[in-house]
Amino acid sequence: MNEIKFQERIDAEKKIEPKDWMPDAYRKHLIRQISQHAHSEIIGMQPEGNWITRAPSLRAKMILLAKVQDEAGHGLYLYSACETLGISREELVKQLHDGKAKYSSIFNYPTLSWADMGAVGWLVDGAAIVNQVSLQRTSYGPYSRGMVKICKEESFHQRQGYEIMAEMAKGTPEQKAMAQDALNRFWWPSIMMFGPQDSDSPRTGNAMKWKIKRQTNDDLRQDFINKTVGQAELIGLTIPDTDLKWNAERGSYDFGEMDWDEFWSVVNGNGPCNKQRLAHHKKAHDEGKWVRDAAKAHAKKQEVVAN
Ligand code: 3HC
Repeated sequence: MNEIKFQERIDAEKKIEPKDWMPDAYRKHLIRQISQHAHSEIIGMQPEGNWITRAPSLRAKMILLAKVQDEAGHGLYLYSACETLGISREELVKQLHDGKAKYSSIFNYPTLSWADMGAVGWLVDGAAIVNQVSLQRTSYGPYSRGMVKICKEESFHQRQGYEIMAEMAKGTPEQKAMAQDALNRFWWPSIMMFGPQDSDSPRTGNAMKWKIKRQTNDDLRQDFINKTVGQAELIGLTIPDTDLKWNAERGSYDFGEMDWDEFWSVVNGNGPCNKQRLAHHKKAHDEGKWVRDAAKAHAKKQEVVAN
């Protein structure tokens, strides 16, 4: 197999499996994207985990607990998919800790009120659904199959978040103000999850050629905005973008200019919570070493017994 045959396979919509020949650049591109996706799922547990002990009811606590546990599982599927490309979990975590690997910018913003649990579920998981439904058709088999499983759970995440926002929006004036404040703080960082504009995206060219991505950053962002504006209006909340306007000709919403300085500053480690998120991950990783060692010792013992 060579690059020409490989591209023919991609163009024929054939999935690439771990044992198939693949160009090094395809393998490296996938390791970057899948590992950063996995890191995002795990780091994303922090902003929501922050509110589990402060949930306003037992029902709310159970829902949030289930959601945060789901995110851990999503991270597990994605790390496992990434390992099929020939890199170890230890190496992936080291790249995160050494600042060599990224995770989604959205998780570097603080969650200041219970309404933020609504905004995160509704907007962040809503954006993730748009992105991940598209990724179900990615060319790499293990990634594509992981996405199918993750998307099923993501819909529950988005609905529970929207339910929180809807409840608060029809609550007391203070509750509605809290929901609007959460929307104001999370709207722009949520649409930044789709990445830089296509014209500034160094990876999109190859990602589309190799069908790792099936839609571009701008297309997915537009799709999310078109889906979400009506949801805000339905519960009486206002999207914090004065340039937001339906464009009948395009059949889409026009929207305001994003703050790309803020975007790249957060992506490059200078967001409100970057340092805190990484410190927390490192502390949890170190404290969990005994569990990993015990699991390895048990596996080794099982091997000895089996042979
Ligand atoms: N935050 C952090 N880094 C970002 C970013 C963001 N919002 N947007 C782009 N980047 C990074 C890219 O990872 C890439 O980094 P690299 O060159 O070091 O690998 C660089 O900026 C250039 O961006 P590109 O658009 O050229 O890169 P991609 O083609 O990889 O597109 C992406 C970026 C759209 C995030 C794509 O990688 C992708 O679809 N990844 C899979 C989905 C994902 O990771 N989602 C993150 C959230 S997960 C989540 O929300 C879980 C849910 O359960 C809450």
